[in-house]
Amino acid sequence: MSEPQTDILVHAEGGITTLTFHRVDKKNSITRAMYAALADALEAAAQDDSVRVVVIQGDPTVFSAGNDIGDFLQQPPASQDSPVFRFLRAIASFPKPVVAAVCGPAVGIGTTLLLHCDLVYAGDNAAFSMPFVNLGLCPEAASSLLLPQMLGYHRAAEALLLGEPFMAEAALEVGLVNRVVPPTECNAVAQAQARKLAAKPLSALVETKRLMKLGQTAPVLERMATEGASFGRMLGEPAAREAFTAFMQKRKPDFSQC
Ligand code: COA
Repeated sequence: MSEPQTDILVHAEGGITTLTFHRVDKKNSITRAMYAALADALEAAAQDDSVRVVVIQGDPTVFSAGNDIGDFLQQPPASQDSPVFRFLRAIASFPKPVVAAVCGPAVGIGTTLLLHCDLVYAGDNAAFSMPFVNLGLCPEAASSLLLPQMLGYHRAAEALLLGEPFMAEAALEVGLVNRVVPPTECNAVAQAQARKLAAKPLSALVETKRLMKLGQTAPVLERMATEGASFGRMLGEPAAREAFTAFMQKRKPDFSQC
């Protein structure tokens, strides 16, 4: 089953639902419609007993450039029911294993969504970045909570305050990814791992994931809501407007007034 009109391909086979970013000409940046398609697919996969594993993947050249900036300017998320926040809640509370394959740029939510995946495989061309501050914004996806836990405060501060990209080997070192592979093999490696998972008893997978996340899901959802309120407010403020307008006009932003 494919839904190319949403720029998210949904393919179900052998107990594995694969969600593929399919908007390479725009670097797989994610529109409202794409967030809605991702949220719908995850909500359906959570309920469907025939689905055992979800894979999220992009292209060997790019995973995702994060939120579509034009979309954010035109129709910023107005409430917690917005597709982006619905997607984040769906992935953070998804009960079955999620495997990600990441090659090329993974910007903003392209990196933070990985904090909610169980296994992450990266191409050696993967470049992770969370340039929220550079866009006049704040972290989302509970990354302000999870990154300090995972990286330690100072490395998280470097990633979130400076927003500079770090490559696959650095991501491997801090435990954000499981393995680094050639980009052309990355999606296949993720699929192979997903097939291994799909052959295991689903009840044991779900219970093991539930136990590993016990006590964490509620604080994560709470942090997402807190971040979402700030993020939504900041989208309308001068720093973000300047950053987004500068991106659309292909110039450097001028934050001297922000
Ligand atoms: N939103 C909307 N369009 C985007 C986009 C985004 N986040 N990222 C890339 N695009 C578009 C570009 O505008 C360009 O469109 P055009 O061909 O119509 O001009 C096209 O995708 C190719 O992007 P380009 O910047 O030329 O590719 P690149 O290979 O030089 O750089 C990135 C790739 C991902 C490093 C760069 O596009 C980038 O930094 N994007 C913005 C990332 C970002 O800030 N995301 C928001 C996080 S909240």
